[in-house]
Amino acid sequence: MIYTRPAQEGDEVAIMSLIHALAEYEKAPNEVVNSAPDLKKHLFEEKICEAIVVVQNDTIIGFALYYTNYSTWKGKCLYLEDFFVLPEYRGTGIGSQLFDEVVQIAKDRKVKRMDWQVLDWNEPALNFYKKKNAILDPEWINGRFFFD
Ligand code: ACO
Repeated sequence: MIYTRPAQEGDEVAIMSLIHALAEYEKAPNEVVNSAPDLKKHLFEEKICEAIVVVQNDTIIGFALYYTNYSTWKGKCLYLEDFFVLPEYRGTGIGSQLFDEVVQIAKDRKVKRMDWQVLDWNEPALNFYKKKNAILDPEWINGRFFFD
């Protein structure tokens, strides 16, 4: 049986492993400096982000991680940072269910907008979001600094 639930303490190691798998998929495996202890602190102590996990037979096979962000134009928004299903479980509706749950959370919290980034070569994900009738806007350029 496959089900989803909010992430709970103890899930951080499995989620971190999926974060690494997503970074690998996105061709940036060396960019991940976050750690399971820090993720645990951020999710469950500081509560600066939240996650939903997909579970099969006590194993976490997918997750979505999101947090509240703010638009001066719109007000309170929700940012979907990561969205991932292990390859062997893809194409069976799990990602769709997970994504719809995050959209429902956004609606329940009455945020004005839900945002995420997707790499321009990630055709499967682009197709997925198109099927969800999402707006995909290539106009904005990311600005970024890294700090230690
Ligand atoms: N090509 C075309 N369509 C696809 C593909 C694909 N590779 N994968 C799924 N779809 C379609 C399905 O046919 C389905 O359409 P339908 O509802 O009309 O039948 C719909 O998308 C939903 O498919 P699911 O089976 O629910 O999606 P899945 O469980 O495969 O999860 C996900 C989708 C999460 C994007 C998964 O493919 C994945 O983990 N990909 C790798 C990581 C990734 O790209 N994550 C998103 C990055 S962006 C971000 O993180 C914010």
